[in-house]
Amino acid sequence: MTRPILKIAVLHGPNLNLLGRREPEKYGCMTLPEIDLALHALAAELGVTIDPMQSNDEGALVTRIQQTRDDGTAGILINAAAYTHTSIAIRDALVFCERPTVEVHLSNVHKREPFRHVSLLADVCLGLILGFGPDSYRLGLRALAGHLTAT
Ligand code: DQA
Repeated sequence: MTRPILKIAVLHGPNLNLLGRREPEKYGCMTLPEIDLALHALAAELGVTIDPMQSNDEGALVTRIQQTRDDGTAGILINAAAYTHTSIAIRDALVFCERPTVEVHLSNVHKREPFRHVSLLADVCLGLILGFGPDSYRLGLRALAGHLTAT
């Protein structure tokens, strides 16, 4: 029997809609639509589909994560941006939804201010990829798709 195509939710947190214009020395020049386009292309190569969403609102991200438990989503790729360092609500939603999750960051947060060294999400995630610019997303998608297809 052929397996259904795996669906991966890609979640981008606050201010990531500004990519390309926002601190390009830290985050690079690619825009968010360009990153999503590259992820769609990679997903097709890997035989999975992605469902990207960006929000500046913590509650909208929490609601989307809650939905993944029942809407056929197999896994989550998330850059929660600043909420990574503050959001117990996003962490709780990730625990609830029980989807394997990969946390990504464009920048190496450990080379930056101390408040960015803390992730409230990391220990409820499958793994983390950070510091490779937009490639962090691509590497994260590869890792997550590999994990999901192996399980
Ligand atoms: C970020 C790192 C966060 O500390 C920051 O608040 C962001 C982007 C990254 O991708 O490097 O908005 O998540």
